[in-house]
Amino acid sequence: MATLVTGGAGYVGGHVVVALHEAGRDVVIVDDFSNASTRTVDAIRGLTAGSLPVVEGDAGDQAAMERIFDRHRIDSVVHLAARKSVAESLERPLAYYRSNLVSTVCVAEVMIERGVDRFVFSSSAVVYGEPAETPVTEQTELGPPLNPYGASKAMSEQILRDAAASSGLRVALLRYFNPAGAHPSGMIGEDPRGTPANLVPRVMQVAAGRLDRVEVFGCDYDTSDGTAVRDYVHVVDLAQGHAAALDALERGEGPFEAEGTVAYNLGAGRGHTVLEVIAAASEAVGFAIPHAPVERRPGDAAAIWADCRRASAELGWTARRDLGAMMRDHWNWQRRHPDGYASQ
Ligand SMILES: NC(=O)c1ccc[n+]([C@@H]2O[C@H](COP(=O)([O-])OP(=O)(O)OC[C@H]3O[C@@H](n4cnc5c(N)ncnc54)[C@H](O)[C@@H]3O)[C@@H](O)[C@H]2O)c1
Repeated sequence: MATLVTGGAGYVGGHVVVALHEAGRDVVIVDDFSNASTRTVDAIRGLTAGSLPVVEGDAGDQAAMERIFDRHRIDSVVHLAARKSVAESLERPLAYYRSNLVSTVCVAEVMIERGVDRFVFSSSAVVYGEPAETPVTEQTELGPPLNPYGASKAMSEQILRDAAASSGLRVALLRYFNPAGAHPSGMIGEDPRGTPANLVPRVMQVAAGRLDRVEVFGCDYDTSDGTAVRDYVHVVDLAQGHAAALDALERGEGPFEAEGTVAYNLGAGRGHTVLEVIAAASEAVGFAIPHAPVERRPGDAAAIWADCRRASAELGWTARRDLGAMMRDHWNWQRRHPDGYASQ
């Protein structure tokens, strides 16, 4: 039996595939390569022994998904395939709703049709919006969506809750905080197209000489050094969280039995300011990374980090790697791949 990983050629997906292999699971990848290069697959194969079937296809294409279930013995799905740029979602909201919602409906429908009941979903801390208090727990009220991307994640969660309530589907909603870092081998990592929107890949591209400086959006927040605080989680820890969620779904006991759908925060459980991230990255690369303050961005909360006690208690998962490890591993990948996978 195998786990189908949609979006398995992406940044988080590649690490999830490796973590599932390490946990002894067979994996089938489906990816439409809209935001990944086929070279990623060679790199993932370099880290996984045995066969790794890869299907090029759209997770929102019902017939294509049915063919995958016909050809492979799938017993669980990790659904990561989604468009994820906040800025692009504001420019092309309907494309985001179509892609992110249709693929979620389609994957759930095919699973229910085939009697496959274990579903792990890539959600995001974005569903909390701008929370009044931090750290956020899974009981924290979901905020009004900040953008169509965030709305598509909150709507996907609702779709899956409704699907689980009316079928035997059991769903782990994994709310990621800020994934950073790379596999310690330096073989797979984050390869954003265009100028990266997230802080860590931006910092690393400045270190690599691809960008001039890091813009620090807002230095007058009510935080220790005035810059915004976020919860950064090593992508390898995050990936291992998916293996832990699949194990819990397989055991089927506790909250999955009672509720069908359960949300888990996957973060480090602590926050770092933007300046702390830049300092840790500077230490990892061995020189000071240039940065400059600019105006706050609208919709950016001052501080948000995760309370991860539920994942610890019910999945037996905690993030083990600290910010220094994230920066060293991210830099190791960036240094070996100055132009991303195109450097291979
Ligand atoms: N990276 C983050 O900061 C972050 C934070 C929270 C949640 N997430 C979620 O995690 C998941 C993975 O994110 P990522 O950072 O690895 O992004 P990514 O773009 O690197 O990976 C997504 C992968 O899915 C593929 N894809 C997109 N739409 C598809 C479709 N309809 N059918 C098949 N394949 C499709 C892309 O080609 C890509 O390989 C996404 O659902 C994202 O929303 C990411």
